[in-house]
Amino acid sequence: MGRRSRAAQMSRLPRGAAVITGASSGLGREIARQLPHTTPLVLTGRNASALETLASELRGSADGVDRAVETVAGDLAEEATVERLVQSSVRLGGATLLVNAAGAGVFGAVSGAPATRAAAVNRVNIDGFTLVTARFAALMVSAGRGVICTVASVGAFFPGPLVAEYYAAKAYQLSYALALDRETTPGGVRSIVVCPGPFRSAFHARTGLDATALYRNRRLPDAESIARFTLRSIGRRRAVSAPGLFLPAALYLQALLPRTLVARAVHRLQTRRAGNSQYGRRAPRPPTT
Ligand SMILES: NC(=O)c1ccc[n+]([C@@H]2O[C@H](COP(=O)([O-])OP(=O)(O)OC[C@H]3O[C@@H](n4cnc5c(N)ncnc54)[C@H](OP(=O)(O)O)[C@@H]3O)[C@@H](O)[C@H]2O)c1
Repeated sequence: MGRRSRAAQMSRLPRGAAVITGASSGLGREIARQLPHTTPLVLTGRNASALETLASELRGSADGVDRAVETVAGDLAEEATVERLVQSSVRLGGATLLVNAAGAGVFGAVSGAPATRAAAVNRVNIDGFTLVTARFAALMVSAGRGVICTVASVGAFFPGPLVAEYYAAKAYQLSYALALDRETTPGGVRSIVVCPGPFRSAFHARTGLDATALYRNRRLPDAESIARFTLRSIGRRRAVSAPGLFLPAALYLQALLPRTLVARAVHRLQTRRAGNSQYGRRAPRPPTT
C-alpha cells in the first residue's frame, strides 16, 4: 500500500484512546504497533512483562509528541480487570476503539478431554469477551461515538469437530457483535467483526494446532498483514470482513450445504490437518441432526 492511501486509511480510524485485548502476543500486539502514534493505548493480557516490553517500545516520542500507553495485566474474565481497563481509558481521555483480540482454543476430540476443557476456553472467548464488550459499549454509547472490533475467525461460520469449543465460541462472538451493532449504530457506535483464516502467531503452539499437518507444512500469512487488514476494516467500518476469499467461501458453503454436511467436511479437514491416526477412523462421528 502506498504512503498516501495508508495515510488516508489511518485518518478514518476513530480519534481517541484504543483499548486492545490480547496485546501481549500475536495479532493484538501487531495492531497496537500499527495504530497511529497519536493514538493513546491501553494494552491488556495476562503476561505483564510482555505488555511492559510492548509499552516501552510504543511509548517513545515521535515528532516531539510523547505517546500515552498504559498496561493492565489480568484475566479478562475478571470484572476487576475490566474495571481497571475502564479507569485507564478514562485517564487517557476515553476509549473510542476497543479491539477484542484476546482468544484461546484447544485442539482435540471433546470425548477425549476433561469435561472442564470448555470452561477454560470459554473463559476468555465468551466470558471475558462479553464482559469487556458490554462495558465499553455502554461507555461509548454514552459518549455517542466509538468502534468495537471483534476478531472472531472464519471458524465462526461452521461447526468445528476437533476444535468444537473454539468454533462455537467464535460463532457466539460473531452473533453477539452483530446484534450489538444493530443496537448501538443509532447511538453512533459500530460493532464490527473480522474473521481471519489461520495466520502465524503463538496461537497454534498454545492450542496444539502446530503439531498438525496444515500448520507444519503451509505458508500462512503473518500477524502483521492480518493487523493491516483489521485496521482497514475498522477504517471502513465493515460489519463483517475476512482476508482473501474466506468470507465469500464461508457464506457460499453456509447457504448451499446443510450444517451436518459442513460438520462432516470440517471434521475430515481437521483430521487431515492432524496428520495422525489418533483422529482418523476412530474419531467420533459428527452429529447427524
Ligand atoms: N492465529 C490464528 O490462526 C487465528 C485465526 C483466526 C482467528 N484468530 C483469533 O485472533 C485473535 C488473536 O489470536 P493470535 O493468533 O494473536 O493469538 P495469540 O498470539 O495466542 O494471542 C492471544 C492473546 O489472548 C490473550 N489471552 C488469552 N487468554 C486470556 C485471558 N483469560 N485473559 C486475558 N487475555 C487472554 C493472550 O494474552 P496472555 O497470554 O498474556 O494472557 C494473548 O495476548 C484470537 O481471538 C484468535 O482466536 C487467530
